[in-house]
Amino acid sequence: MKKVRKAIIPAAGYGTRFLPATKAIPKEMLPIINKPTLQYIVEEAVAAGIEDIIIVTGKQKRAIEDHFDKNFELEYELNKKEKFNLLEKVKQPSELANIHYVRQKEMAGLGDAILTAKSFIGDEPFVVLLGDDIVVNELGDPATKQLVDQYEKTNSSVIGVQTVADNATHRYGIIDPASQDDRLYEVTRFVEKPAPGTAPSNLAILGRYLLTPGIFKHLEKKYVGAGGEIQLTDAIQMLNEEEKVYAYDFKGNRYDVGETDGFIKTTIDFALKSELRDDILAYMKEKIDENEK
Ligand code: G1P
Repeated sequence: MKKVRKAIIPAAGYGTRFLPATKAIPKEMLPIINKPTLQYIVEEAVAAGIEDIIIVTGKQKRAIEDHFDKNFELEYELNKKEKFNLLEKVKQPSELANIHYVRQKEMAGLGDAILTAKSFIGDEPFVVLLGDDIVVNELGDPATKQLVDQYEKTNSSVIGVQTVADNATHRYGIIDPASQDDRLYEVTRFVEKPAPGTAPSNLAILGRYLLTPGIFKHLEKKYVGAGGEIQLTDAIQMLNEEEKVYAYDFKGNRYDVGETDGFIKTTIDFALKSELRDDILAYMKEKIDENEK
């Protein structure tokens, strides 16, 4: 069985929900507290044993490249001033993994973005992490590591899922489960964004995938699906028809940072878990009191 060493992180979207902030910087660089959302994602990949990461970028990639690169001037200055704590923070992103970049030429969908990284992946299993979801599993392994463990048991593709509310199924890829063994499902069908009321279950694909390289020949068909885009979910269903693709209900709290309200809630949650806790809690109490008057 081949070891999972590579990851694809798509980061080419326009980030329209965050305009005008995302006019000149990628949405993946927006921070939760003091760390860009993309760094949380890269750290999760590294914690799963990933060594090489390819980030699929669009027009604005400079800030991403700079963030994961060395910054000699800044490091020199911080060193000279003996600000070693800050120096560590500046160096850390550039020491996480080997990071590579490829550009998606047109915004033709998630499936097309993954296809862009085909020659980087070659004939190996790999993971895909989407930046709109940050997953925190405080008591155990991060989501991607959980998928790698399932791959090692099944030697098959494993797609991360969690239960979502009835009124949210139309926003996700949804599975039609065939059988269940603890958290692992065999799947009859993967369907991208089913119309409201038609979803075969409430188990939604939530931005974490472990895929065998067999996926690429299906992506190459460039089948146009939901929203007029080349959907990864459709290629996964085609793969599922020729080799087993499992779904795994991964453990962990999932934060939707792709929406402005989710972004604010994530910021509050992370602040309450940090040294800012007492300050923020006191401030929130003050605000609640004010609003109740
Ligand atoms: C994408 C996938 C979808 C998945 C979702 C997870 O959709 O196409 O299957 O459920 O990410 O967040 P998007 O949110 O890009 O529309």
